[in-house]
Formats: sequence, C-alpha cells, structure tokens
Amino acid sequence: MNPVIKALNFRHACKAFDPDRKIARNQIQTIMEAARLSPSSFGLEAWRFLVISSEDVKRKLRPACWNQPQITDASHVIVVLCRPDLADPADPYIRKNFQRRDLTEEAVQIYVDKYKNHMETEVFPRMSAYAWCSKQCYIALANIMTAAAAQGIDSCPIEGFEKDPAEKALGIDTDTYEISVIATLGFRLKDPPKKNRWPASQTIEYI
Ligand SMILES: Cc1cc2nc3c(=O)[nH]c(=O)nc-3n(C[C@H](O)[C@H](O)[C@H](O)COP(=O)(O)O)c2cc1C
Repeated sequence: MNPVIKALNFRHACKAFDPDRKIARNQIQTIMEAARLSPSSFGLEAWRFLVISSEDVKRKLRPACWNQPQITDASHVIVVLCRPDLADPADPYIRKNFQRRDLTEEAVQIYVDKYKNHMETEVFPRMSAYAWCSKQCYIALANIMTAAAAQGIDSCPIEGFEKDPAEKALGIDTDTYEISVIATLGFRLKDPPKKNRWPASQTIEYI
C-alpha cells in the first residue's frame, strides 16, 4: 500500500492513550519538523508550536479541555498557536516575510500590495485574522498527525477546549499568541473502532 495511505489508515482519533508509553525525542522532533515544513498562505508561518511533555503543565491544561483524558494520558500535547497580529497588512512582518524570497525590492512591493488587496477584499470581509491564521495552523495539525502515524504514533486532534481558560492555564501572552488547535500524541491502549467515511463516489468529483 502507498505509505501515505497506510499512515492515514493507521491514524484514528485516539481516545485512550497508554499513559506509561512515551514518544522518543527523535520521533517527536521528526513530527515537529513536519509541522515546521508545513505550507501556509503567502508563506506567512504565523504560528508557534508548544510541545508539552510536562505532566504538571498537562494537568493544568486538562480542565480547560473539557477534562478530556487524552490531555494527561498522551505522551506529548502540541498546542498550535497562531499570530493574528502578523496577518495585518500594515505589519512590518509582511514585507520581511517576502524579503526572505531573495526578490528585488520592486517585486517585494508587488507581493506586499497583492497580499494587502487579497486580505482586504477576500479574507477580512469573510473572517477574522484569527480564523484565517487558524486555517493555516490546521494544515500543520494534519502534517503532525500524519508524520506521527507514519512512525506508528497515535494522535487525537483537540478542538474541544475553552480558549480563554486554556490560554490562561498555559500563561500565553494573548496580545501576541492565540491557541488555534491542539494535538495529543502517544500510543493507543486498544484497537480503534471501524473507520466511518462516506464513499469516494459521494465525496470526490473528477471533472
Ligand atoms: C479539528 C478537530 C478537532 C477535534 N477535536 C476533538 C476533541 O476535542 N476530542 C476528541 O475526542 N476528538 C476530536 N476530534 C476527532 C474527530 O471526532 C474524529 O477525527 C472524527 O470523528 C473522525 O474519526 P477518526 O479521526 O478516528 O477517523 C477532532 C477532530 C478534528 C479534525
């Protein structure tokens, strides 16, 4: 089987992790490298990843996450933070971001103008900077889960959290960072339930 499809079949939303099994340092680093290499719109990378293995920090976070046991039983909890402030077309980071591409200043200005126009006409009329940045963070979330699965590591994505209490529990400077989504990583205690997916004929259209 294709190795990516194999990993995607292995992955399920793990509800019960073995609290005694820990992910090796090199494996977590590989997973986080997959996160770091994730694409983002305009290459903005308006994110930061908190990799939590401290039992104390996990314990503090759990009540803000619907008290889900995955938070404390998982080996690692990855909190994906976004930087909505950086998405502001007026922020100097926008120019700095495009300057990484070794372009002429004229070409950089074209990108800055295109970004500003896109955000003002397409993005901000439809969603907040937080929502737009979070869309990018979910790409990293997917890569985290797939990179974990490729190494036989289980995961559960966590959207079941209360944002303000979770940010408070982690002491996050919310003037800059906001939690987009959380991923728990570890090892399953039991076999997953059968996978439910609508058939390709219903969900995919080839034109
Ligand atoms: C963004 C996102 C957030 C999720 N949040 C939770 C969560 O807080 N707790 C949980 O147990 N499962 C959570 N799930 C798991 C989904 O319920 C699960 O992926 C879905 O039912 C499909 O099952 P499968 O992942 O096992 O194939 C979340 C999934 C996604 C993609």
